[in-house]
Amino acid sequence: MEKLIGHKKIKTAVFISGRGSNLKNLIKFSKTKKSPIVIDLIISNKKALGLKYANRYKIQKKIISFKRNRIAEKKILIILNKRNIKFICLAGFMKILTKNFIEKFKGKIINIHPSYLPQYKGLNTSVRALRNNEKFSGCTVHHVSAKLDSGKIILQKKIKITKNETEVSLDRKIIKEEHKLYPKAILKIFN
Ligand code: GRF
Repeated sequence: MEKLIGHKKIKTAVFISGRGSNLKNLIKFSKTKKSPIVIDLIISNKKALGLKYANRYKIQKKIISFKRNRIAEKKILIILNKRNIKFICLAGFMKILTKNFIEKFKGKIINIHPSYLPQYKGLNTSVRALRNNEKFSGCTVHHVSAKLDSGKIILQKKIKITKNETEVSLDRKIIKEEHKLYPKAILKIFN
């Protein structure tokens, strides 16, 4: 990844579909001096709860329906180019981006996933881990490639599954670690 030139922060878009706790966390991180990124735009495929942070922190937001993926991505690319956005963080974004889109932002899209990849790609990671009596789960920040949850790993953290662990308790532990891991991974990429 290219080094920072001077003190200019890299214009970044965050893509969400849900409650946006990682988004909020990234916004807070982006306002620190050490952050290499500035969040310039929030994109959601629907009226997601997390969009409230766009209003709270006065960040541009766009809702783009993904009924037709190609059209949605075309629209997004136009907006990203217009705003000179150079980096994309997926944070609970529930749509799969096409190879074509990923190619256009090659090496510049990262994602956070609630498992210790390559274990438990896809959805419902905690339920599946508990069902299989796993000893640990985790979270992973990785580059986005055309294959789901399979891009190069940037950072990951193991999280112990304790006796009597429930989906709720495990998810709570994971999200807490995600909030530490995502900024760390961004620092790792740009430093
Ligand atoms: C997180 O667990 C993330 O790993 C996954 O979706 C969830 C998003 O949570 N990709 P939030 O919307 O950031 O609170």
